[in-house]
Amino acid sequence: MEAPPSTTQDLSVPASQAPATATASVSPAGMPKTLLLIGGTSDIGRATALSFAEQGWRVLLAARNEAEAQRNADDIAARTPASVSVHRFDVLDTDGLTAFVEGLPALPDTAVCVVGELGDQSRAQGDLGHATMVMRTNFEGPALLLGILAERFVARGSGTIVGVSSVAGDRGRGSNYVYGAAKAGFTAFLSGLRNRLAPLGIHVVTVKPGFVRTRMTAGMKLPPLLTAEAAEVGRAIYAAAEAGRGDVIYVRRIWRLVMTVIGAIPERIFKRLRL
Ligand SMILES: NC(=O)c1ccc[n+]([C@@H]2O[C@H](COP(=O)([O-])OP(=O)(O)OC[C@H]3O[C@@H](n4cnc5c(N)ncnc54)[C@H](OP(=O)(O)O)[C@@H]3O)[C@@H](O)[C@H]2O)c1
Repeated sequence: MEAPPSTTQDLSVPASQAPATATASVSPAGMPKTLLLIGGTSDIGRATALSFAEQGWRVLLAARNEAEAQRNADDIAARTPASVSVHRFDVLDTDGLTAFVEGLPALPDTAVCVVGELGDQSRAQGDLGHATMVMRTNFEGPALLLGILAERFVARGSGTIVGVSSVAGDRGRGSNYVYGAAKAGFTAFLSGLRNRLAPLGIHVVTVKPGFVRTRMTAGMKLPPLLTAEAAEVGRAIYAAAEAGRGDVIYVRRIWRLVMTVIGAIPERIFKRLRL
């Protein structure tokens, strides 16, 4: 069985073990650190923003649906002392991404991108527009946006970038290979970014959540052992980003084993499986 990459870590972080960070949320200048949460209407995004806000971070929620993001912002602000604001963007509007970053009230200390679209594999096989949307939403847009932020982090000399990818990108499967291929591209982009920026002190984290109970998976029958709650993912992202405890994380430990086994199946057998 192939050994997992040495940079891969498992993070299953119960609330009680989430790092307590009285000082980590404050910049050297004594100001609260700023999180840019890209995908502010997502269930995982909302839980992640809450984890940072609970630790005293200022939160910028970026979303294409401002009204829904504002509801999340109000909820987080009601539960924490954090300052939370909403910023409109569309990840498919790639021409507008630079202006979006330049229009933010501050260059964030940490940027987390959770934008994604599962799409419909059957539809994507015959509808090029749908396939294009899935590919661009999961790969092109997030990669370009994080790339813009990365250059600004390099110029400043600090920053953390987190991209939420998927185990679906670890090996293409017949049931979701358009989504999986886009996530594979995003995973490779994050890997290259990490490789380039690590010597410069910029931390890049790839998150592969496994199954998560969110609106994306609503109605699906999910195995409990393999299925995380959004709050669990949020805590794992916070721990990986801020405690520097991960480069590539599988939120539930068991997913590393599952994907190692799936990755080791010879292609002549794999092509006959219905996964
Ligand atoms: N749930 C799982 O089992 C699972 C497993 C592995 C990986 N993931 C990944 O985790 C991330 C979060 O997923 P989730 O489960 O929290 O699902 P979700 O609630 O559906 O989140 C998807 C997010 O992407 C945003 N988005 C889609 N297209 C966009 C666009 N053109 N511009 C801006 N934002 C756009 C959505 O905004 P709108 O509200 O405007 O649509 C939403 O905020 C995704 O990248 C997903 O692929 C999820």
